[in-house]
Amino acid sequence: MAEKSFKYVILGGGVAAGYAAREFAKQGVKPGELAIISKEAVAPYERPALSKAYLFPESPARLPGFHVCVGSGGERLLPEWYKEKGIELILSTEIVKADLAAKTLSTTSGETFKFHILIIATGSTVIRLTDFGVQGADAKNIFYLREVDDADTLVEAIKAKKNGKVVIVGGGYIGIEIGAVMKMNNCDVSMLCPEDWLMFRLFTRDIAAFYESYYEHKGVKIIKGTVAVGFTADSNGEVKEVRLKDGRVLEADIVVVGVGAKPLTALFKGQVAEEKGGIKTDGFFKTSVPDVYAVGDLSTFPLKMYNELRRVEHVDHARKSAEQAVKAIKASEEGKTIEEYDYLPFFYSREFDLSWQFYGDNVGDTVLFGDNNPASPKPKFGTYWIKNGKIFGAFLEGGSPEENKALAKVARVQPTVESLDLLAKEGLSFATKI
Ligand code: FDA
Ligand code: NAD
Repeated sequence: MAEKSFKYVILGGGVAAGYAAREFAKQGVKPGELAIISKEAVAPYERPALSKAYLFPESPARLPGFHVCVGSGGERLLPEWYKEKGIELILSTEIVKADLAAKTLSTTSGETFKFHILIIATGSTVIRLTDFGVQGADAKNIFYLREVDDADTLVEAIKAKKNGKVVIVGGGYIGIEIGAVMKMNNCDVSMLCPEDWLMFRLFTRDIAAFYESYYEHKGVKIIKGTVAVGFTADSNGEVKEVRLKDGRVLEADIVVVGVGAKPLTALFKGQVAEEKGGIKTDGFFKTSVPDVYAVGDLSTFPLKMYNELRRVEHVDHARKSAEQAVKAIKASEEGKTIEEYDYLPFFYSREFDLSWQFYGDNVGDTVLFGDNNPASPKPKFGTYWIKNGKIFGAFLEGGSPEENKALAKVARVQPTVESLDLLAKEGLSFATKI
């Protein structure tokens, strides 16, 4: 049986893996010391592109155009880059067994990889409707989106079912982004959102009202407060209808499902401490097992600002946690210490011509400000969240880079608010003068 041994192994070849590799290269890594093992066939790339530019009808993004680290304005790490640095990219290789005590990872074909230090970066996978036993959910043309192969399958379906009827199941991130891009592809789009408004976990009713109205003006139908309970297929096994809990039936040529993600921790069950569905780490992304780190979507880490353990399923944290873990590994080798991770949550999205950013925590009272008229030529509006008299969270649609920076600062500094009415009047200028 083939066995390979490395000083450092990154398990998973997604966003966190790519940013960790860049940090290793910055800090100094010798050829042959580091390997990335990924079940994907391609070098790490900026996953957010898959639900946006990858699906554009005109000039869509394609690899190698969006390999990491272009998403944060850095140099693009092409496969050659790893070769030059002597970093081994072990692609199309799924690890099916991990023995953390024996420091080995194995594949079904019997390959074994030994590590001295392991960074777990397996991210998350999609939750499937078949997981809840939804009738007919295994019909053809019901799609999920996580990896570039999934996006390729969806692109083929968009071509095959030109101008077809698309039903999106889920009113979260995948829902709003795919809803927009499918409309841009001239499909007839209906979105199913089980809650009272879109992006229920983050948006307020007022924020959602803007996006819902904007989408409806574009011709996207939004059906709220109900779920898909079953699918009917035609004689080819292709989805034909979506049955809703409230009794309605929608015709569909394509269904795209975005009902959430779950962290890929199964390989390590019983071997490492878990918390809130993820692998528990400290502020250096060390797990309960010596020499094993966990970063990105699957790490449950101390969010210092709010004094609690959290998991964050967004790209900015994947990048920063990966860099922090590598810095911590390198520092401890030199007997040095680094500052604990002190993360400010940052989420963003882009749909049609819109673009929003959110920083901080969406807790407490809210204040809406700015021009939230969806018919405005350039709407710009936002919301502050205020808890214990201080700003905890800040949201802005249509901000400039400087304004978004101000937003981040206000969420980090948490200034005291004297009056909510005054804050509503001051709006964005409150943040820009901090
Ligand atoms: P990630 O999922 O990137 O990588 C995990 C890697 O591990 C994959 O390569 C996988 O194949 C591999 N793997 C898993 N199990 C394995 C095994 N057993 N053996 C070998 N390899 C294995 N966030 C945001 O802030 N803004 C945005 O706009 C978007 N947009 C967006 C769009 C889409 C379509 C998705 C799916 C997600 C986003 N996100 C996002 C979320 C963001 O992409 C996500 O938080 C990061 O990719 C997480 O990075 P990780 O490296 O942790 O996991
Ligand atoms: P999500 O958690 O954002 O949203 C899930 C949605 O599905 C919610 O509206 C939820 O109520 C709904 N839902 C749950 N169960 C349902 C059911 N049985 N039937 C119908 N609807 C149901 O998850 P997602 O949109 O699937 O995104 C997957 C992952 O990708 C997440 O980690 C997300 O953070 C990430 N992502 C992020 C971005 C971004 O940050 N811009 C973009 C795309 C994806």
